[in-house]
Amino acid sequence: MLITDFCPMSLDIDKLLECSLAAARAAATYAMDHYNRRSEVVEMSSHDVKLKLDQECQEKAIAVIRSQFPEHSIIAEEQTSGIRTRPDSETEWIVDPIDGTVNFFHGLPLWCSSVAARHHGAVVAATVYAPALNVCYMAAADGQSVCNGLPIHVSSVASLSDAIVLTGIVRNVSERRSLTRMLAELAGKVQRLRILGSAALDICAVAHGQADGYFESGIYVWDVAAAGLIVRQAGGSTELIGEPLSEGRIQFLATNGHIHDAVKNVFRQIRNL
Ligand code: IPD
Ligand code: CA
Repeated sequence: MLITDFCPMSLDIDKLLECSLAAARAAATYAMDHYNRRSEVVEMSSHDVKLKLDQECQEKAIAVIRSQFPEHSIIAEEQTSGIRTRPDSETEWIVDPIDGTVNFFHGLPLWCSSVAARHHGAVVAATVYAPALNVCYMAAADGQSVCNGLPIHVSSVASLSDAIVLTGIVRNVSERRSLTRMLAELAGKVQRLRILGSAALDICAVAHGQADGYFESGIYVWDVAAAGLIVRQAGGSTELIGEPLSEGRIQFLATNGHIHDAVKNVFRQIRNL
């Protein structure tokens, strides 16, 4: 299923977009202001870390959304008091307060705050803000994506052998085995595979024409919701591959459109092996 965006006439998308920016800014600015607290850990597990700042930044973003749209539903990565699911709400917000948490924890600048507004199931407004890189990506379902206010477009790379493809490594050991085969196959076909550590920034890099594709298995909706709209409104394509995995995790592909089928063919080959 290709993910498309739908934009009803009655919806005030500009207001949703402004709110996504304000919420992403609130979260990311709080993270920057408290940068020296980035090693305060709530929980450390193999391959992952939960930070106090993850939760505090999320509360900042949620406070902004609640102040402007108290009736809307909110889905967010961290389980904090601000979250609310309202089955009757037509619009829901999807918040990842710090995407690239492990990078942030170690002091790498590749992390961001990601906020999307989804209306009747389709993302209509989105911001991905990476303050340590000084980049802010935004998109609305009725316009061109921008980076720091300037329009962006996906690359024209049409052959896998000329493409950079970004990815992430799933934490689940059994799922990692089939992923390893997929990555080995892809690595032999593309110019380079890269793992940068922030799914939202990976997908925005595709939107910006700095990379040509992104694939990850085992990712969550908050990792890809905002950046997915940004890459589509920059001329790219996104697709959910296969069935959802356990705990609502998904397999997500985002490309410049030109290499989309070629990347998918690698999946098909691996599945049929
Ligand atoms: C993670 C990052 C990473 C991806 C993981 C995500 P988090 O999000 O996006 O690049 O490989 O699958 O969970 O935990 O830093 O918000
Ligand atoms: Ca994330």
